[in-house]
Amino acid sequence: MSKIHEALAPISWLEGRWSTTDGRGYYPNIPDFTYHEDLEFLCIGQPMYNFLSTSRHPEKQTPMHQERGFLRIKPGTNELSFVVSHNFGLTSLEEGLCETETHQVILETVNLSRISFAKPPFVKKIKRVFKLLSDDQLEATLYMETDTTPMSEHLKAVYKKIQ
Ligand code: HEM
Repeated sequence: MSKIHEALAPISWLEGRWSTTDGRGYYPNIPDFTYHEDLEFLCIGQPMYNFLSTSRHPEKQTPMHQERGFLRIKPGTNELSFVVSHNFGLTSLEEGLCETETHQVILETVNLSRISFAKPPFVKKIKRVFKLLSDDQLEATLYMETDTTPMSEHLKAVYKKIQ
């Protein structure tokens, strides 16, 4: 583990690189799918994690969804903000908190914006939960609402810590 900023103590368990052992996607109007994803939560001395998510097709190995962002903590609190840019032309500002007893991070969008030529349907809300299952096992669940579908689960993945 690299040395993390003391403000990140409530979410020290997120630090590092994680790789899926099981990644599943679904949504009411699309076929179910599986995916592989690598996550990074790295601290370079500031009260935040630099975040990377890179996913790929499990057989073809072709790139799928990607995210780059910053998960900040308000020092001395359990309040979080997550600023994320998504490769399909969306930026999400998510806020929430960490529950130290249950090792969970819960985030919901407070703002979304998209590029002028984004393809519909348009994302209206995102909610995500990261939960530590054991020292080296993380689970992520992502729900979204679009302008055509109410809030529904889109992703559920389990990751193993690789570094
Ligand atoms: C479809 C958003 C993450 C794979 C979609 C759709 C949206 C969306 C709006 C269209 C749904 C519809 O047609 O009603 C998002 C958002 C994500 C996310 C906001 C993260 C915050 C991912 C990830 C993967 C993924 C990590 C897989 C690696 C897919 C696939 C489809 C899809 C395969 C269906 C095919 C397609 O429309 O391209 N997603 N997605 N998504 N998403 Fe995601």
